[in-house]
Amino acid sequence: MTLVSFVKAHLIHFIQSMTETNFPIIESNDSGIKDMPGVLNWLSHNTDTYKDQLASAGAILFRGFPVNTANDFDAFSAAFNYQDFTYEESLSNAVRINFTPRVFTANEAPPEVEIFLHHEMAQTPISPEKIFICCLSAAESGGETPICRSDLLYAAFKEKFPDWADQFKSLGLKYRLRMPEQEDLSSGQGRSWHSTLNVASREEAEEKLRELGYSWQWQEDNSLITTTPVLQAVKQLPDGSESFYNQVLAVHLGWQKVGGGVGNALTFGNDEAIPEEALRELAKLAQEYTIPLDWQDGDVALVDNHRVMHGRYPFSGSRKRQVVVCLARDV
Ligand SMILES: [Fe+2]
Repeated sequence: MTLVSFVKAHLIHFIQSMTETNFPIIESNDSGIKDMPGVLNWLSHNTDTYKDQLASAGAILFRGFPVNTANDFDAFSAAFNYQDFTYEESLSNAVRINFTPRVFTANEAPPEVEIFLHHEMAQTPISPEKIFICCLSAAESGGETPICRSDLLYAAFKEKFPDWADQFKSLGLKYRLRMPEQEDLSSGQGRSWHSTLNVASREEAEEKLRELGYSWQWQEDNSLITTTPVLQAVKQLPDGSESFYNQVLAVHLGWQKVGGGVGNALTFGNDEAIPEEALRELAKLAQEYTIPLDWQDGDVALVDNHRVMHGRYPFSGSRKRQVVVCLARDV
């Protein structure tokens, strides 16, 4: 093992010891399970325990198990018996490619594009409770998935800036987004309005948006600018803690640059602007609660989407990074 690979293999443990956290929980293949039937047998006895651990820890990383293909990952995630949350039914803005009906690419955005911390689909009224992420092939350099405990972030933000924290909670948020007519693979959010809304015509798009409580404006290039109804910015979790459940950081750090002139992509629910200083402080504070998942081939992470944000660091090198996801409902 080279020094670099040794450091990479122990990076999460090192950061955990520095920050005195147990986030994420790491479950290694200590008993040396060699094949998928063995993995599924082991899971059949342990998923209830992991679900319990997930409820408080927010993320579990399964490392060293023989999960080599999208089909292996499909079977691994299915063993938890959550309900499916398919890409077709989602209002996700990212372009994705399906491998199996439940497994798809995490994001088709180019390697140099950073995906900033977010809760999956928190900018829409329909979002998954759980996310499985699997690394089939790690990038040569970079490509980590940063994860951040939103409950700890919101508690710290509330203590430091109670007025801003209260504004987010009491006013909620509205998101504005441009959906192109055709898929735009150069963007982290280039999914067309046909695909996002799962419709064939403008009339069907309007019908769907009306049902969801959105407002909208058609543009000359046939793209569509949509504004969500007021969505919550803070979510109460079952244990009583509060999570900063939104896309504020992703919009502040990423969308404004790719938004294509939609004006203010995010406001409070009463249309007031969010103070720039509050956004800067949030971004700074989030770094303290962020751990990069430094992928190894075969890793599977299970993330509680209500408690934990995730993103993607840029990557490079000739090795193809292949990270796939499966979204799930727990209702
Ligand atoms: Fe995501």
